[in-house]
Amino acid sequence: MPKIAAVILAAGKGTRMHSDRPKVLQRVLAQPMLAYVHAALRPVFGDTIWTVVGHQARMVKAALPDARFAFQAEQLGTGHAVVQALPEIIACGCERVFVVNGDVPLLTGDTVRDFLRRAEGADLAFATLELENPAAYGRVVRAGGQIRAVVEKRDYDADRYGQEPHEVNAGMYVFDLQVAQRLLPHLTSENSSGEYYITDMVALALAEGCSVRGIACGHDADLLGVNTPRELARVEELLRSRVVARLLECGVIVHAPDLVRVSPGACVEPGAELSGPCEISGDTLIERGARIAAHCIVRDSVIGVEAEIRSFSHIEGARVGTAAIVGPFARLRPGAVLEDTAHAGNFVEVKNARLGKGAKANHLTYLGDAEVGAGANIGAGTITCNYDGTRKHKTTIGERAFIGSNTSLVAPVSIGENALIGAGSVITKDVLDGELAVARGKQKNMARILPH
Ligand code: UD1
Ligand code: CA
Repeated sequence: MPKIAAVILAAGKGTRMHSDRPKVLQRVLAQPMLAYVHAALRPVFGDTIWTVVGHQARMVKAALPDARFAFQAEQLGTGHAVVQALPEIIACGCERVFVVNGDVPLLTGDTVRDFLRRAEGADLAFATLELENPAAYGRVVRAGGQIRAVVEKRDYDADRYGQEPHEVNAGMYVFDLQVAQRLLPHLTSENSSGEYYITDMVALALAEGCSVRGIACGHDADLLGVNTPRELARVEELLRSRVVARLLECGVIVHAPDLVRVSPGACVEPGAELSGPCEISGDTLIERGARIAAHCIVRDSVIGVEAEIRSFSHIEGARVGTAAIVGPFARLRPGAVLEDTAHAGNFVEVKNARLGKGAKANHLTYLGDAEVGAGANIGAGTITCNYDGTRKHKTTIGERAFIGSNTSLVAPVSIGENALIGAGSVITKDVLDGELAVARGKQKNMARILPH
């Protein structure tokens, strides 16, 4: 196959989403649409991929840190967008250019490969879909079975082109580079949008006697474009159900599967158990035998073998060890580590802190920037006061220490092994191994004077 460069069109605003966020960054299962398109193309094209950005370019670039970009300063249409990437493509020595819209998150590498294979030899080829409701897609105009043009919905004139077809342009193309170089300068903006349409390349190529092929890719939903909130919801639901079906096939136990949302990049091992509604996303690993109860959110975290995440827990950037227990109603923030069999119970928040093996913080506690030794017991209402208004400080708690309820540990501070802190203490000085510390107002009892 000749060397092919890929271009992703991602400069548009996405007016129909009614959102300030660029359309290609709208999320499908917690991941921007554009990241899916990239992931599909990378195995096919390696790093010979340019993404055309324009509207909110900085934000779009930040979402794809390793990608290459071309810049479209003004969004003058999809044809104009391709032109912006041409110099790079010419410089890379490719003979063909593959172009795809950035709003097709269900695209797969297999669909792209299949399309390229079937497009071999054509000067220009584009993917088509057969849709019951062609909505705003570009219509494929044929005469006597032969392609004549692609005409946008708003420019479609039934008197000129005949009854509207159900065959539409899917927004995926491949051109011979020389043909593209020759034809792109001839695009005009004489249409109802005043834009330079990539789709006009079809009629231009035919007029030049080039070979043009429309390739039906209508077998599944891979090429559905997302332009509206309704289309976003539809595509997300399709992907969600595909991922859950795959998990079930692999031996993951899923309760209320219609309510389970797992992003495709997350890994759930066979024998793990998920109860909907729940959301698992990012770079997450749920190991075998782990259980995620209903109403939990887990992102960029590792949940170890046989660990139990009880309802309404929110976990992000955390590591939960074997047979550890979290929740209900717990919050693990980035840097939280629960070693094997540790517990973080209801209304416990853990941030950048480690609970050693078997350590327990079961109720109403904040552990931030802390190291808690194995077997320590953190009483209800314990707070590590880690922030002095300017800087964060660390709290260290030794193995098997016992922190009485309603204790404030004013960091930096360290509590020794086997130390005991009396309930209600405000600890500002280090406590050594085995010491008992009580730091609170002394109780005074006196006779009560009752009114007559
Ligand atoms: C486009 C096609 C239509 C096709 C449909 C398939 C054109 C003129 N029409 O319509 O035939 O059926 O896709 O989904 O191409 N973009 C830029 N710069 C611009 C304008 C758009 O980079 O100046 C990008 C957008 O960010 C988007 C993609 O191009 O990712 C397609 O633009 P969009 O407005 O979604 O085109 P459609 O109206 O869907
Ligand atoms: Ca679109």
